[in-house]
Amino acid sequence: MSIIGQSVPRLDALGKVTGQAQYPGDISLPNQAYLKILFAGRPHAVIRSIDTSQAEALPGVIAVFTAKDMPVNEYGLIMPDQPVLCGPGSAKPYTDHVRFEGDQVALVVAESEEIATRGRDLIRVVYEDLPILSDPVQAMQPESPRLHPERDSNVFCHYRIRKGDVEAAFAAADVIIEGEYRTPYQEHAFLQPEAGVSYMDEQGRVTVIVAGQWTHEDQEQIAHALGLPLEQVRVIYPAIGGAFGGREDMSVQIVLALAAWRLAQRGTPRPVKIVWSREESIVGHHKRHPYLIRAKWGARRDGKLLAAQMELIADAGGYAYTSTKVLGNATLMCTGPYEIPNVMVDSYAVYTNNVVTGAFRGFGGPQAAFAAETQINRLAQALGLDPVEIRLKNALQEGSLLSVGTPLPKGVSITQVIEQARAASLKWAAEPPPGAPSLRRGVGYAAAFKNVGFSFGAPEQCTAAVTLYGGREIERAVVAHAGADCGQGAHTVMAQMAAEALHLPLERIEMVVSDTAQTSNSGSASASRLTFMAGNSIKGACEQALQKWQAEERPAAATYQYRPPKTTPYDPQTGRAEPNFAYGYVAQAVLLDVDVETGRIFLRQVICADDVGRAVNPQQVQGQIEGAVVQASGYAILENFITQDGRIRTDKLSTYLIPTILDTPEQVESLILEYADPIGPWGARGMGEMPFLPLTPAIIAAVHEATGVWFHEFPLTPERVLRALKP
Ligand code: MOS
Repeated sequence: MSIIGQSVPRLDALGKVTGQAQYPGDISLPNQAYLKILFAGRPHAVIRSIDTSQAEALPGVIAVFTAKDMPVNEYGLIMPDQPVLCGPGSAKPYTDHVRFEGDQVALVVAESEEIATRGRDLIRVVYEDLPILSDPVQAMQPESPRLHPERDSNVFCHYRIRKGDVEAAFAAADVIIEGEYRTPYQEHAFLQPEAGVSYMDEQGRVTVIVAGQWTHEDQEQIAHALGLPLEQVRVIYPAIGGAFGGREDMSVQIVLALAAWRLAQRGTPRPVKIVWSREESIVGHHKRHPYLIRAKWGARRDGKLLAAQMELIADAGGYAYTSTKVLGNATLMCTGPYEIPNVMVDSYAVYTNNVVTGAFRGFGGPQAAFAAETQINRLAQALGLDPVEIRLKNALQEGSLLSVGTPLPKGVSITQVIEQARAASLKWAAEPPPGAPSLRRGVGYAAAFKNVGFSFGAPEQCTAAVTLYGGREIERAVVAHAGADCGQGAHTVMAQMAAEALHLPLERIEMVVSDTAQTSNSGSASASRLTFMAGNSIKGACEQALQKWQAEERPAAATYQYRPPKTTPYDPQTGRAEPNFAYGYVAQAVLLDVDVETGRIFLRQVICADDVGRAVNPQQVQGQIEGAVVQASGYAILENFITQDGRIRTDKLSTYLIPTILDTPEQVESLILEYADPIGPWGARGMGEMPFLPLTPAIIAAVHEATGVWFHEFPLTPERVLRALKP
């Protein structure tokens, strides 16, 4: 191997540091018009009427679109439960309902952004407000009004796991720990708010240039809503300024497409551009789900886990987004990377009138890990055991059965990552720096496992095309792949894997990426899957292209679809499943000081041991680890997303604080471990999410060691810490 394992510079690095890279908001087309969206701005209502006449009369306004302009007024990644535009006039019932404040009501297309904004403010909507359901526990009650009147409950997803006999096991346990945990919202806060341009291309396709995570899924949802065949819709991703799950669902895609398509239908085709403000972005896209998790775990005196009983309630907000998938992950991960003979889990996703929630790095894993790892840390304390020893005693091994009754795929390394995180932490000083009498020091540990790829029977595949050009030798190889580079470096890694498979220098690889007109469906940049899935597809395409090359075909072209081993959904009664085809394993140690006078937490050291299988580009792996740790430190300590009666109160980055350089841990030590995954490309596992998972519970454990207080809720803002220390 010559190129795999090298930290080659990112293909996009120069363009990004010089400012030449084009993000969606940077792209302007000749004669473009501007789009502004009227958001509902209220959490629950029926729209009685929409009067657009004043807006339409405003000079410079080109068009106003509402629900009646939407051919198929529905969308949704998992289930089409959301109107594209709320309002009367759709064939589908209840599209006149508003279910969260970020629901979109009308679109104004104008000569300038300023005119579009003024036009938006001239639209008159008559709302009839409905009672606001902002508490998921209340929304679950059978007598609660239903957000989606055609459904018989606000609970739209319920998973059950039944393994063994938890009651008998609790009766036999020496110690039982119970806890009620609450996790907060988290805003993705990617650098680049939603933006894009749309136009009719030279072949008459509605074309949308936008940032997303899955070109072909965006294409499908646009085509569905516009009632067009797939080939009439084209989606192109330019540079993407971060995603983290926040671009998995639609934001501006469908409305951009609608505007360009309707203008062309009227005989006045124009490109259309939109750029959301930060406030629009925060209100307009989903957040990480808040969870309420009730936990009861029992163990023997020696630390052996006997039983875990969990109840999870996820606040989905007004629409499903990816809630069912996020809940599936949380349900699997809420018992930790441990073999527990008796397990009972009930988990629920519930509609409320709060801001919608969905995918966010870890995909339910961080919420589940917070509860599971805090439970095991508390068990260790109750039994007087070392928190690392209790984990090693219970860690999943090759062949151990998960809560869902099946073993993990081969290549289980949770024991190794825990041991290495611990070994690296033994050098830490036990005392805070001298001269600061209000500081208390603590160390905490946590571990996690994270699936790679789509789970629970979701169709999973990835396609790549490779064309080799040249005469006697290969002069260049064109790799066509739809996989999105959201800023994580995916395209560089793909080029490295192609170069390796073709035995070519990296300079001879040319990437054609993320354009539905030029690439086949690759699935999403999510679920830590892209290196794994793209790698296997590129490897397959390269091998087939090389065979054709050897048979003297010029150019030699091959398309290869990689399909991983099948997974299966939860059995509705027992939860039995083969949930995933691959995993990564992670453990962290955290050293911090708590200032007991101010409540402030100082993250000194984080050790993060990650089994990535094979680090295709070690510098990028390190970047993912450090980025995840910083993002997770914001989740644990700083980021305080506030809603009140279904309204977001923190719609700015001045009121919703994310970590700055002053808030990052003083040192993050990345331990990159390479226990090959048997079916990963060159052994690689996915790793983009897993360093996020253990940080919060490791911090919670360290704060407990420092102060003697267990927190069941976070972020650990100074106010929350002080209130607990000085009740
Ligand atoms: Mo991600 S949270 O799997 O987009």
